[in-house]
Amino acid sequence: MAVTRREWLRSAGVLAGASVIAGKGTARAAGPAASPPAAGSAELFDVPDFERQAQVRLSPMAWEYISEGAADELTLRWNRESYDRLRLRPRALVDVSQLDTRVTLLGRELPFPILLAPTAYHKLAHPDGELATVRGAGAAGATMVLSTMSTVSLEDVAAAATHPLWFQLYVQPDREFTRRLVGRAESAGYQALVVTVDAPVLGARYRELRAHFNLPPGVERANLKGLVTATGAQRATEQSIFSATLDPKVTWKEIDWLRSLTRLPVLLKGVMNPDDAARAVDAGVSGLIVSNHGARNLDTVPATIDALPEVVAKVGGRLPVLVDGGIRRGTSVLKALGLGATAVLIGRPYLYGLAAEGAAGVTRVVNILRREFEMAMALTGRTSIAAIDSSVIWR
Ligand SMILES: Cc1cc2nc3c(=O)[nH]c(=O)nc-3n(C[C@H](O)[C@H](O)[C@H](O)COP(=O)(O)O)c2cc1C
Repeated sequence: MAVTRREWLRSAGVLAGASVIAGKGTARAAGPAASPPAAGSAELFDVPDFERQAQVRLSPMAWEYISEGAADELTLRWNRESYDRLRLRPRALVDVSQLDTRVTLLGRELPFPILLAPTAYHKLAHPDGELATVRGAGAAGATMVLSTMSTVSLEDVAAAATHPLWFQLYVQPDREFTRRLVGRAESAGYQALVVTVDAPVLGARYRELRAHFNLPPGVERANLKGLVTATGAQRATEQSIFSATLDPKVTWKEIDWLRSLTRLPVLLKGVMNPDDAARAVDAGVSGLIVSNHGARNLDTVPATIDALPEVVAKVGGRLPVLVDGGIRRGTSVLKALGLGATAVLIGRPYLYGLAAEGAAGVTRVVNILRREFEMAMALTGRTSIAAIDSSVIWR
């Protein structure tokens, strides 16, 4: 039975202001069973369009949760502004009729260097949650990194995947559970383990506090079933900074332990300091993701694109270095690669696509950024990934 988006939102306990929902979003016929009807897509052309539409479609709580940054949101702003400040240095009169955007990462070829960063709780954005995301990612040919905090189990997501998946791990305080979780990801066919290292605790997230963040009834941490932390907000309080879903005791010892547990390549996500990058090389990991968690944890750390060059220099080509945070344009992808990234990840942009149009919206957001990236390559006279270096940045 088809349900309207309004009915679904009400049953999920996340109904936004009724007058908002009754607007643009109900223009089309009802979608498939248990899905909200698709939003009209004709007006959505670029990522900012999807962002605006997502704000209309999401409940206020989900909007605050997804779009927020920590504290004063200075780093949130810088993540974007630092890309804006970088200017491009084009070459003219280059034959750009053939562009090659393929990149090799961990021994596998990707058709283009944009991946989906791990983000929690996709059912806040769409009733099909991560199943819609993985379908959308697959249709776009993109690799998705599934969060430990997904609202669909890692096995069910893998069963719906048509493209490679990576699994993001939050080491759980229960180490035996963590060991089994890693084993589950490996058995389900995930091809890399992305260990998030920038979240021993969560940051000061006042927008979600003010919006009374909680998981609506029926929405749970599907991978944590069996733990008491599978449901509920699990947030810090005024009395304690700790969250029961995160382990503040994790150190380099756990990285060694994880490497001993799995044959999967281990990447560290959330490395900003070049000294940590050097240590990571010594620890034998397979890659790094320069990330400040989408500016959601420690406010006033630099923009990731400003942190990237020093990390790249320290790593000296021994590992692939990826970057995420603030990428909303194809030109930003070009700038990141120009400053030494092997590939980039996007977080909020595809969540906005998911909220606006479900799986199709995820596909469209990836396609839009991919096309913008290709335009930027053509217009700067760079015909392959290998041809993108620091000379593409105007100094
Ligand atoms: C709503 C939301 C949830 C997130 N959840 C996770 C998570 O579960 N694990 C993780 O490692 N990072 C998480 N992140 C951080 C992203 O992986 C990524 O670093 C960030 O979104 C990149 O910035 P961008 O949103 O500006 O593209 C989350 C980010 C957002 C916006």
